[in-house]
Amino acid sequence: MRIAVLASGTGSNFEAIMIAKREGVVTDDICLLFSDQKQALVLEKAKKYGVPSVSFSLHDFSSKELYEKKLRDLLVSKKIDFVVLAGYMKILGSVMLETYANRIINIHPSLLPSFPGRHGIKDAFTYGVKVTGVTIHYVDDGVDTGPIIAQKAVEIKTYDTLETLETKIHSAEHVLYPQVIAKLTKNENKKENF
Ligand code: GRF
Repeated sequence: MRIAVLASGTGSNFEAIMIAKREGVVTDDICLLFSDQKQALVLEKAKKYGVPSVSFSLHDFSSKELYEKKLRDLLVSKKIDFVVLAGYMKILGSVMLETYANRIINIHPSLLPSFPGRHGIKDAFTYGVKVTGVTIHYVDDGVDTGPIIAQKAVEIKTYDTLETLETKIHSAEHVLYPQVIAKLTKNENKKENF
C-alpha cells in the first residue's frame, strides 16, 4: 500500500508511524506527508525520516473545492492508495471523500461518539468523566462521525491534570495508530473488528 499522511501540527503521531515503520510493524510505504500549515513541525519530522513532503494552504486558493482538488490530484499523481489523517485540522469535502471512499482514517483523542471536535481531551477532562481514550475511525462527511475501527480507553485518575491526561492520551495514540494501520492495510482495507 502507498500511504499519505495528512497533518497540520506537531506530528507526534506521524513520528510514531515512522518509528513503527522502522521497526517493521508498519510495512506499507509512507510515500508522502502533506501539511496545510507551511510552518508545521510535522514538516521537519518528514525531513528527519526522509519522507517527501508537500505543503500548501487553503488560503492559496479561491475556494475550498479548488484546494481540495489540488490535494486530491497530488495524492492521485503519487499513486496513493490510503490516506491517514494525523492531526489534520480541516474537514474533508466530497472531492477527497469520493476519490478515497473508505480509504481515509482519522485518529481522535476521545472515546467517540463522546467529545467530538477540536478539544476532545479538554472537553472530557472538564466534563469529569472517569474514562476517556482514543478512537480510530473511517472518515465520512461529518465531524468525527465515521465508522469506528478501534478504541483504547484511558482512565482519568483524581490526580490527573489536563497536562498529564494529554500525555497519557498521546501515548495511547502512538501505540494504537501504527497497530491499526499495520492491521488494516494487511487486510486489504476490509472493515475489520479490532
Ligand atoms: C492528536 O491528539 C490527534 O488525536 C488529533 O490531533 C492530535 C495530533 O497530534 N486529531 P500530533 O500532531 O500527531 O502530535
